[in-house]
Amino acid sequence: MDKNQVLLNQMHKYFSRAATNQNRDVVISSGKGSYVYDANGKQYIDLLSSATTANVGHCNPHVVHAIQKQAAKLLDYTPVYFANTTEVNLMPKLLKTIPMHGPLELSWGTSGSESDDSIIKFARGYTRRPYVISYDGSCHGSDYGGASATGEVDQVRNIGPLLPGIIKVPYPAPWLKLKGETEDQFVDRLFNEFLMPFENYVPADETAVIMVEPIQGDGGIIKAPEKYLQKVYHFAHQHGILFAVDEINQGLGRSGTWWSIQHFHNIEPDILVTGKALASGLPLSATIGKKAIMESLVFPEDAFTTAGNPVVAAACSATLDVIQQEHLVTRSKKMGPFAKKFFDEEASKYPFIGDVRMYGLNGGIDVVKPGTKKFDPKLAEKICDLLVKNGVIMTTTNFSVLRFQPPLVIKKSTLSKAFIIIDHVFKEINQHYI
Ligand SMILES: Cc1ncc(COP(=O)(O)O)c(C=O)c1O
Repeated sequence: MDKNQVLLNQMHKYFSRAATNQNRDVVISSGKGSYVYDANGKQYIDLLSSATTANVGHCNPHVVHAIQKQAAKLLDYTPVYFANTTEVNLMPKLLKTIPMHGPLELSWGTSGSESDDSIIKFARGYTRRPYVISYDGSCHGSDYGGASATGEVDQVRNIGPLLPGIIKVPYPAPWLKLKGETEDQFVDRLFNEFLMPFENYVPADETAVIMVEPIQGDGGIIKAPEKYLQKVYHFAHQHGILFAVDEINQGLGRSGTWWSIQHFHNIEPDILVTGKALASGLPLSATIGKKAIMESLVFPEDAFTTAGNPVVAAACSATLDVIQQEHLVTRSKKMGPFAKKFFDEEASKYPFIGDVRMYGLNGGIDVVKPGTKKFDPKLAEKICDLLVKNGVIMTTTNFSVLRFQPPLVIKKSTLSKAFIIIDHVFKEINQHYI
């Protein structure tokens, strides 16, 4: 009996299609390090890290131990009414990693969406300005604030009207670069497009915040050019607009730095949000900001009963320890080039592999129609189907980009094993589907 299929039949009967993109015959049953196992016991190398929640690996023993110990002591006492020891001890530890100066404060959430929503609240509260700028192709979550800031049409189908006053500008994605355009020309053109709303219908002095992923995750693992982000940052400061970075996908060592904004020189955000891998996938997120900003709202404007509960706080504390003690940021940075070299070689062998981007153990590999730069989402899905069948978990992002985000603890030998399987699948695709 195929246990996966039995469970999937049950899932499809009960689980809303709005909450899952599950389209493969696999039900995850357990995990260890960079491996997961399905309900039939089949092993997979996980190159997705549960959508970047498993940066320190599945069931990392330090994290599991911390959770078990805390669970036996106190499951919850809401920080809304009484501080709990674990959560309070965690605060300075997390803030120490944050690349922002001056007194900082934070507010806990239970999901990335919630903390992105909080950016909008704190920014409006502090500046007393209504408008928010976010980017095409961005992902900021599924609640009304997060969805309204997100730049993807499927996120907002049939649920409008959205939160008012959120304006989208084009993200400087590499595929927007014109033929023959230099990097400087590209940056100038995209920055002019950024300025357009301000010249036409959004007064800069009524704008509260610019929300940006310095490296877009779901947008295809694409990094904004340094010069572009510098221009946007200076524009924000000139006009008293807050600069907020969403590190939910790309933070915590994923991109080879603690936070992806550290790829950029002298850019210090006013607000930073993190989640996902923060507590190794347990529901914890944080909105971190300059003290004055975080003091601009009053209770209960950003209070959530279960946010920052002792168990997730213990998981977070242990996760931060593992990142530090196992030097996972450096590891991510050093192993990135190994992965980049592999995918570049594949791109030279197979005409359906386009651009390869890699920042740390964190890559976007474009799947294109051979001989063009045109995306081929169907082929990308087919590749992921075959990969999963062959024991490697990868998904697509931005429809036609293979998302490479393994646990940062993955062994080089395990990666090499995954690469052999990927090459085998690409060969099969080349022979039978091109
Ligand atoms: C950059 C970014 N922000 C926010 C979110 C939303 O996080 P969550 O699904 O935990 O609400 C995501 C989720 O993929 C994300 O990638």
